[in-house]
Amino acid sequence: MKHFYSRGFPFHRGRRLRNNKNICDLVSETNLSVKDLVMPYFLREDNDETKISNMPGLKRFSIDELIIELEEIESLGIKTVAIFPKINEKKKDDQASESLNEDNLVCRSLRKIQKKCPNISVVCDLALDAYTTKGHDGVVDKSGVINNDQTIEILSNMAVLFATNGCKIVAPSDMMDGRVKIIRETLEKKNFKDTVILSYSSKFSSNFYSPFRDALGSKTNLGDSSKNTYQINFKNKREAIKESLEDQHEGADILMVKPAMYYLDIINELKNNTFCPIAAYQVSGEYSMIKYLSDKQIFNHRDVVLESLYCIKRAGADIIFTYFAKEVAKWLK
Ligand code: PBG
Repeated sequence: MKHFYSRGFPFHRGRRLRNNKNICDLVSETNLSVKDLVMPYFLREDNDETKISNMPGLKRFSIDELIIELEEIESLGIKTVAIFPKINEKKKDDQASESLNEDNLVCRSLRKIQKKCPNISVVCDLALDAYTTKGHDGVVDKSGVINNDQTIEILSNMAVLFATNGCKIVAPSDMMDGRVKIIRETLEKKNFKDTVILSYSSKFSSNFYSPFRDALGSKTNLGDSSKNTYQINFKNKREAIKESLEDQHEGADILMVKPAMYYLDIINELKNNTFCPIAAYQVSGEYSMIKYLSDKQIFNHRDVVLESLYCIKRAGADIIFTYFAKEVAKWLK
């Protein structure tokens, strides 16, 4: 903070700068642009259910539905989306083998998107929770321990597979150690030199992911088991910053803090400690909290959503993943 001396009232009248909208706009410190927003989408197999319980207003898209949707959001100015597959339960196993199937839901989507919407960038999650019977982000060995080194091997192969199918941004969201290093090395070796690694680098073990796990169909698989042995304890700030900086050293291009709204101090601290762009993920639980209260008309939906996003940006985020992205793009137009 700069040294501050004030002669006080009436030399200072803070209200002068809040007097009318023009002045307010002139001195506004934070901007929100559609260019900062990433819209997440849930994918489904053609015969699977569209409805997502606990995330009203959203649905799961088949590949064909997604193409139509992407054409629409492109016209609204959104250029980047993240995709999350809900795969058939029968395709899940201990080793997450479906994650490396070149005809899996993500690869098929990537190929179609590249053909039909070549100007959309797709962020692909690298984690095993969508593919394992246990619903964990890594493979679980017989003693119940998540096998770190085996998992990052699979993730690096996933990164190459997705890059081969047109993904430009891979996003390890698993919180295993050393994954960014191995993914970067593997991408380089396979000549994917320009694939961006957006690392979920400060990812907390949060209760706010619950609706997402419903959407992905990993919640019942996970059961009572928690992700506490790899995701960060929400009581810890310095540990979270260290994790992000380790990922930066390992070769991440963009760092992410997740969740966003209760973690503004983390975003801010990271901003002061890195030159990498920072993404924040306003997660499913944050979406649903706002959405349910809006639907009950307890507050004004648009005003609350915009406040939440401006505050995330004010804290220091450059990019925001938010399920409100499409709506906000309409408002900003
Ligand atoms: C998967 C993953 C999760 C989210 C994004 N990628 C869930 C989790 O870690 O359990 C959460 C997103 C959200 O809640 O909106 N590793």
